[in-house]
Amino acid sequence: MGNDFAAIKEENFARFRRDFDGQRPVCSGLPVQIWLETTTRCNLRCRICPRRYGPADEGRDMPVEVFRRIEEALFPALTHIELQGWGEPMFAENFEMFYESARRHGIRVSFITNGTLLTREWLERFVRDGVGLMLSVDAARDATLRDLRGIGLDRIESAIRQYNEIKSAMPASRSNLHIVFVGIRRNIEQLPELVERAATQWHAASLLVVHLQRAGLPAEVQAEHLANNPDLADAVFGEAFDLARNLGLMLELPPLFGRRPEADARRQAMAAEAEKQSFHYCGLGLFRSLDPRSPYPNRCPDPWLKAYIEINGSVRPCCAYGRVFGNAARQPFGEIWNGPLYQRLRRKIHSRIPPLFCRECNIIYGITGGNPDACMARLGRWDRAMVWAQWAKRKWHVFQERRAK
Ligand SMILES: C[S@@+](CC[C@H](N)C(=O)[O-])C[C@H]1O[C@@H](n2cnc3c(N)ncnc32)[C@H](O)[C@@H]1O
Ligand code: SF4
Repeated sequence: MGNDFAAIKEENFARFRRDFDGQRPVCSGLPVQIWLETTTRCNLRCRICPRRYGPADEGRDMPVEVFRRIEEALFPALTHIELQGWGEPMFAENFEMFYESARRHGIRVSFITNGTLLTREWLERFVRDGVGLMLSVDAARDATLRDLRGIGLDRIESAIRQYNEIKSAMPASRSNLHIVFVGIRRNIEQLPELVERAATQWHAASLLVVHLQRAGLPAEVQAEHLANNPDLADAVFGEAFDLARNLGLMLELPPLFGRRPEADARRQAMAAEAEKQSFHYCGLGLFRSLDPRSPYPNRCPDPWLKAYIEINGSVRPCCAYGRVFGNAARQPFGEIWNGPLYQRLRRKIHSRIPPLFCRECNIIYGITGGNPDACMARLGRWDRAMVWAQWAKRKWHVFQERRAK
């Protein structure tokens, strides 16, 4: 049945290319990719995760009615779905139904998982269906992983071993394994060890390192943010980068802190590597800025390419953008996708005054190239004043919202 949709998807993708290349504020197609939050519930309580510090029973699954609305509106045209959010995607009661629907519609699935629910049967299905499996592993040593996630490294390694056995029996599978590591003070020195293991024993396609997001975390965890240990972080990132290059592993690092002279050269090398490997977005790679004088090195395709949909149907343009543009459970999707907020974003994102969320984005394919501080440093006096005005406006909105509650 998946093949029935191939022509629709191909046409939709061609429309995306035309609309993005022409920087059109109104799209002629639908999203090529969505991030769908299946649940905000979880079976673990990791030290770095804001879920741990809320009430124990907090969290909900995406209701079936909400899912059906999204499926009907978007699935025929979608190329890629990422099952994402602040929860464990496989813990959703209807995970199998969500997954099977995506598969029936011929959509490539990927998701981040804590790995605890990866049975052999699921792994066989994922390998057969070409799933992109992103496994959160925040340590190379057992004691640290237990401390951070409450699970032993043996559990993760057993799942990876089975995955690789199954994959070697299906060499034509498009499935691949990615490791995701949140770097903080207590685990960062284990990064080179993890790079080595991911490349030589786990045969991972990539290792993605991200900085801690502080919101919702207690002060003692926030204090472990690597910004408080910039020299150590840059030194370890440098070592890990060189090692990954030697071992042929794609390593995506978050912004360096730039206090060491070689940091900028490494950052450039990382961007070039990501570009070369067409790492992101259905093999699209990075889109460089067309204006050589722009302080922003990239053009970001997200406003033309994808939507991030939360469990209640709320739609945001991407994971980094804090504003909701509409609700897919209550409105026709086209009303949101080509509504005033999406149109405004498409007009503004590559203008001289991009939205503040885009200026602050630290994703490597975002407009900042993963380095908002470096972009900010390139701004002239007038542009800096604009940023301050945007900041003040945001503060005012937050204040008004709090008062209304
Ligand atoms: C919220 S989890 C959901 C998926 C799944 N439960 C897992 O742990 O992989 C998605 C990713 O966010 C990461 N994460 C959790 N808390 C974070 C934080 N405070 N800052 C940055 N990343 C975080 C997790 O390690 C994981 O890689
Ligand atoms: S497994 Fe994922 S969602 Fe669950 S607590 Fe850990 S980081 Fe958060």
